Amino acid sequence: MLEIHVVQRDNRHLYEHYFDPYFQLRHDIYVKQRKWMALDRPDGREIDQFDTEDAVYLFCLDDEKLIGAMRAVPTLSPTLMSDIFPYLSLRGPICRPDVYELSRVFVIPERRGEHAGPRVEMLLLTAITEYGISIGLNGFSIVLEAWWLPRFERCGWKAHPLGLPQMIDDMSVLAVLVDCDEATWKSLCRQIGRTSPILTWRGLSGLNRQLLPDISLPHSPAVQPAQ
Ligand code: COA
Repeated sequence: MLEIHVVQRDNRHLYEHYFDPYFQLRHDIYVKQRKWMALDRPDGREIDQFDTEDAVYLFCLDDEKLIGAMRAVPTLSPTLMSDIFPYLSLRGPICRPDVYELSRVFVIPERRGEHAGPRVEMLLLTAITEYGISIGLNGFSIVLEAWWLPRFERCGWKAHPLGLPQMIDDMSVLAVLVDCDEATWKSLCRQIGRTSPILTWRGLSGLNRQLLPDISLPHSPAVQPAQ
């Protein structure tokens, strides 16, 4: 059974056993596979200065196995854009209470490109939109490679460039601001065939959040009986 869990400061103790495998997976994916050698560490864990108490993680679990994840960091805290890539945003890094920065989105190799059901990556995009609306966000800032843009366009994520793409380590990289709103969330839900929120908020009952409604899928046109 596939679930997407919100993990943050207040409930991290319930997920502590996932963190070491999570950081190892990040090392396997970003250092060994993608060869982002600046992230290499001798202990085989990819952990950076943004993995702080302020970071929020979405863990995608299938029968309790971690198969994908994403990280969100409040932009009032230090971010990739503010501390490493400020020059990617022409008007300066985003620093707003209603915007979180997304990073480290991944799906384990054996669960990529799935076509039998919704792709895990689509579930994560839907889940983070639900998370954003639930806590009152209006947008996500992201430093990303340009190949994400057509993918976002296809799924209905509206990404507004904040500056021109730059070549960094042979990658075309830019900064964007993505809208986080209910219309986008509903559209994503329809694409993955869901009629209700997806997130698991274990141990977070004290969190002040907006409850999202169940939504109805559009009716398919009635089939006309053959004359
Ligand atoms: N460079 C360019 N395009 C890429 C890419 C890369 N490094 N990774 C994925 N894509 C694009 C391609 O168009 C690819 O199509 P292809 O199969 O014809 O090459 C398409 O995405 C599908 O990607 P795939 O990996 O098969 O499946 P997915 O959609 O289920 O998962 C990711 C997409 C990004 C979640 C997954 O590839 C992943 O976890 N990658 C490693 C982590 C990563 O690089 N994250 C982004 C930076 S934080």
